[in-house]
Amino acid sequence: MDKNIVWHDHRVTKKERSKITKQEPCVLWFTGLSGSGKSTIANTLEEILHNNKNLTYVLDGDNIRHGLNSDLDFSDKSRNENIRRIGEVAKLFIDSGLIVITAFISPFISDRKMVKDLVEKGEFIEIFVDTPLEICESRDPKGLYKKARAGEIKDFTGIDSPYEPPVLPDIHIINDNISVEQACQQIINYLVEHKYISWREN
Ligand code: ADX
Repeated sequence: MDKNIVWHDHRVTKKERSKITKQEPCVLWFTGLSGSGKSTIANTLEEILHNNKNLTYVLDGDNIRHGLNSDLDFSDKSRNENIRRIGEVAKLFIDSGLIVITAFISPFISDRKMVKDLVEKGEFIEIFVDTPLEICESRDPKGLYKKARAGEIKDFTGIDSPYEPPVLPDIHIINDNISVEQACQQIINYLVEHKYISWREN
């Protein structure tokens, strides 16, 4: 960074914005294999939170890679840059008062820690969507595992590129036999219990 760039403080702060949104801004950081259900749970969760009058925004790997991160591939270095940029975007959205929901494989412990360290204490909530590789592969919603096994895609997570599961996720969704709604309920319970949101009777 150029040393002649000086930080300019905002006159309206995150705390003041939170008084309007009546929620504690944070990032709900989903991590898990491709096809584990991250995006499905993330989008259903957003709908539930929206109906509860929370302000939210979903950042999703496949979509962001069409735009902001369209210059990145799936090498370790690019994945690292992918997560770094999303971390910075999430930080800005948190500052704006939102509950940010991210759905990226984010396979490396060090990259997820980088994001956790970037935001303030309590603002990073790690959600491990723990779906066994065999199930993800049998679902194969985009036909990518099949291509990876055939050698048509290289560096595919779980096949020829590693996935490092969280050691102590804030929320652990064991997603082999539960519904999307049950997974969302688990997350809502956490958010209410830890006072990120209050549950409004609709
Ligand atoms: S991450 O590893 O950098 O966090 P990200 O979540 O952005 O990945 O993108 C993953 C999505 O890209 C997958 O859900 C899948 O649809 C697609 N994809 C295409 N090629 C690969 C690959 N080599 N490894 C993993 N996902 C891939």
